[in-house]
Amino acid sequence: MLDFATNRRFGQNRQKMKSMSKIFVVGNWKMNPKGLKEARVLFESIKKSVKKTDKIKVIICPPALWLKELKPGAIISLGAQNCHWEASGAYTGELSPRMLVDAGAEYVIIGHSERRQFMGEGDEIVNLKIKAALRTKLKPILCVGEKAGEEMSLVLERQLTTGLAGLGVNQMKDVFIAYEPIWAIGTGNNCLPDNALSATLFIKKTLTKLYSRFLADKVPVLYGGSVHSDNEDTYVKQARMDGVLVGGASLGAKEFAKIINDLG
Ligand code: PGA
Repeated sequence: MLDFATNRRFGQNRQKMKSMSKIFVVGNWKMNPKGLKEARVLFESIKKSVKKTDKIKVIICPPALWLKELKPGAIISLGAQNCHWEASGAYTGELSPRMLVDAGAEYVIIGHSERRQFMGEGDEIVNLKIKAALRTKLKPILCVGEKAGEEMSLVLERQLTTGLAGLGVNQMKDVFIAYEPIWAIGTGNNCLPDNALSATLFIKKTLTKLYSRFLADKVPVLYGGSVHSDNEDTYVKQARMDGVLVGGASLGAKEFAKIINDLG
């Protein structure tokens, strides 16, 4: 648990900066929808339904194959869901950061729990991928989060310390952190705002230890895990996050646009 002074300090800084900083809404489509036709319809419907505002940046992460097929809009950019850590080579089935940039990606999700769980990605690989993304000017969104029964602070400290190892202050300007407790992903069992606030403050405290308080205040921290249009604003307002990372609810244009418009 964080002490009262830490909580207040970050709270005050966050409030001060909030009016100036953007809110980020990331849509992680995972391996959906079923085909390109459906992907185009979904993307265009989202584009049509979102209100234009300077306050929000939307980052839609479709399957990489379709990055080239979808044209970003005024507040909508594209991101990839993963990248390889090498620039080229004998890595069957993989895509390099440069290939993703050429296809239109500006952001890339790295270390999503599904990749950690199903593809065996550890913190060292995550670290290599973040460095490779940054070398190619892809902005990495580093996902961190504990499994049910694990201690949040222990897991986050390890994932942040190893995941960000060797990154300089300048590189950190393009890094995003997404707190996604694994037990909340796709379960409908979203994290309570107070617990999410503890995670925000713990991430800021860890970044302060690794870098500085100045930098900790600048790195955007997002919440992900069963975000819907009836809970998204609690993460920004109560948990002091800079936005949300949405999986399932980003696959319905109406619901996803509502999340975006509610935050705007
Ligand atoms: P969810 O997924 O919103 O469906 O819980 C979030 C994620 O996996 O990033």
